[in-house]
Order: sequence, then C-alpha cells, then structure tokens
Amino acid sequence: MAGILAMTGHFCVMSYRLFVIRLRSLHATQEHKSARTNKIHSPFSTGAQRPLHTSYLLLSTPNMLQSDLNTIQADALIAIAAATDERTLDNARVEFLGKSGRLTQASSVMRDLPKEEKPAAGQMLNETRQAITSALDDKKIALIAEADALAVADLDLTLPGRTLPAGAIHPLTAMQDRVTKIFRQLGFALATGPEVETEWHCFDALNTPADHPARNESDTFYFDSGKLLRTHTSSVQVRTMEGNKPPVRIIAPGSAYRRDEIDATHLSVFNQIEGLYVAENVTLPDLKGTLEFFFKALYGESTEVRFRPHFFPFTEPSFEIDVKLEATGKEAKWIEIAGCGMVDPAVFDAVGNERGDDAYDSTKITGFAFGMGLERLTMIEYGISDIRHLIENDQRFLTQFA
Ligand code: DAH
Repeated sequence: MAGILAMTGHFCVMSYRLFVIRLRSLHATQEHKSARTNKIHSPFSTGAQRPLHTSYLLLSTPNMLQSDLNTIQADALIAIAAATDERTLDNARVEFLGKSGRLTQASSVMRDLPKEEKPAAGQMLNETRQAITSALDDKKIALIAEADALAVADLDLTLPGRTLPAGAIHPLTAMQDRVTKIFRQLGFALATGPEVETEWHCFDALNTPADHPARNESDTFYFDSGKLLRTHTSSVQVRTMEGNKPPVRIIAPGSAYRRDEIDATHLSVFNQIEGLYVAENVTLPDLKGTLEFFFKALYGESTEVRFRPHFFPFTEPSFEIDVKLEATGKEAKWIEIAGCGMVDPAVFDAVGNERGDDAYDSTKITGFAFGMGLERLTMIEYGISDIRHLIENDQRFLTQFA
C-alpha cells in the first residue's frame, strides 16, 4: 500500500517537474506561434493578456505544488502509521525526508521557480516537512512506549523480590562510635594526626629516649626519610598541644603500626583511642573518675575497674587499667585494657619549647592522658577470642553483628 502510494507520489513529482519543463518549451513555442498568429492562449490562463511565462507559472505552480505535497504528506503519514519498529520508521523517514527522499525531490522545483513564487512554495514545503517531522516524532515516542509496555508485559508483580544482603556496621566501627559518644558526653573533642609521623612527635616529645626499645627498627616501621608509621596515637597529644593552648580535652581514635608477628592477640596494623585532658589543676582523681565512668558506661554499671602502677615515659605517675571480666561458667579474671597517667612535665616542656611560649608552663599546667586498643575493647565486649577475625572479612563472622 505504502509502496503504491509512494510510486503515485513519485509520479506526481515527476509529472510536476515535467510540467514545469513542458511549460518552458510550450512558452517558447507559443511565443514563436504568437509571433505568427498572436492568438494562442494558455489553457491555464485567465485569458488576461499577459506574457505567457508569468501568468502560466503564477497561476498554476502553487496549485500543482500543493497537490503534490498533499499526496506526499498523505503517503508519508500512512507510511509512518504503518511503521512497526524503529527500523521501519527510519525507512519511512529516509523515503520522504532523506537526501533523495520524495519531499527533497519536490523541493528541487524551487530552483526552477521564478523569484516571486519562491516564498509561497517554500512555505508549503516547510509546512509539509513540519507535518511529516512531527508525525515521525510522535510515532517514535509511541513506538518507544509500546516497546516499554511490551518489555514489562509479562512481568509478574506477585513474584517475591530478591532480598538484598543488609549492610551492617563493622564491630570495630561500632565500638569506636560508642567510645567516641561517651567521651563527647564528657566534653572531649575529636582530634586527628598523621599516621606517617616524625620521630620527634612519636617519641622525643613524648619523653621517650633514643635507646628506648620501642624505637628499635625491629619494633617500628621506618621510612628512608627517617619518618615512621606511628606506633601509637600518643603522637596526637603532641600535635594537639602544639596547635592549641590549654585547656585541651580531646580523644583521638586512629590506626597504629608495629612490627609485630600476627597471632591471636597481635596485628601489625591496629587501632587505638588516645585521650588527653590538660588544664590548670587537673588531678589524678579526675583521671580515675573519668576512666571509671567511661568503663562503666561502656561495659555496664557493675563493671569493676582497677588502676595498677606501671611505667610509661610520657606520664608520671603511670597506670595500667584492668577491668574484671565475668564470663559465664568461668572464674572472673582481670584483663588489662588501657594505659594512663598524669602527663609528665617533660612532655609539656618539649611542647613549650616547640611552641616558643609558656602556654604549657609545667609549673602551672597539669593533665592526664590515656590510651587503649580498640580491638581489645571490641573483643571483650563480644567475647571474640582471636583478633584476626576482625580483619579477615569472613561473612560467617561479620553477619553475627548485622
Ligand atoms: N601509647 C601507649 C601504648 O601504645 C598507651 C598509653 C599509655 C597512652 C599511657 C597514654 C598513656 O596516653 O598515658 O601502649
């Protein structure tokens, strides 16, 4: 059907072009004849005595063209309506609007028209082109909608959906969040520092002498530059005091690195939470009260906490903190859980030297510091017996916390 129409249309275009050409030759002959008889009139003319070439074209061209265009447009709309997919629709587009398409061919008569007829003919051509283009656009949208509808036609909405695995917070992160929350309630701010650290921030400023075993190559990861991977988060104490005047009250959660053999209780990359409170008149009872409050808030009101004298280079006096663990069916036992102490005046002096002021005058300022392992806190909370579970990403382990 479209084919036949297309042929008819084509014929129309051809006939119209032939007509224009014939007009030209007729015009020539008639001029010739008129010269002889002066009597012959155009069959299309109104009979007015006008030179044949203008009257002939002016009156007939718009009608002829319009009728051609009507046919082309009608054929195009039929072909577009008949298109069943994007390919056949594109074929229709090419057939009518393509380089040698029917409308393009019809447009070529513009060349042969006298100037005064061009605007009207151009407008007709434009209108036809617009009608075809918008039919093509509409059909394209309709085809897409049809294809979409087809794609979901046999979608069974009653089928149960696939459940996505639920994500969950890693137990270490959950513990860090809880610890942070408790200390924030007590007015501690969060602080951070670099993991690639200078020896000065990690050891010297913390009153740790050059021959201290912790500084040994066998315990610490050194870079060729002389920098190192911090062995503890205590370096953040120094950095915080360098940049802030007292009072300072911070906790600093973060990673630490040691050249340890990995086993059930050791990792070479692990996490700590550092704490520091420096102001005038900070005392040992403040330290004890704060940390007792913390461990009871974390593990429960009945948790027993004890402070055992110990040694750290950067605190004096220093303590280790133990909590009493009551595992069902087992004898209760004390577990070492943190280190703490009153900030050694030597640390204030090192910081003061670096700052070049007396904000940390060790005769006026006191403070306490503490540090604990995040993995240890987590293992105690959940009864995890091997620290390696925390880094292996085994779903069987992790889903227990989801
Ligand atoms: N930095 C120590 C360690 O890694 C822990 C520690 C002990 C931190 C006593 C402190 C402290 O701030 O006062 O073992």
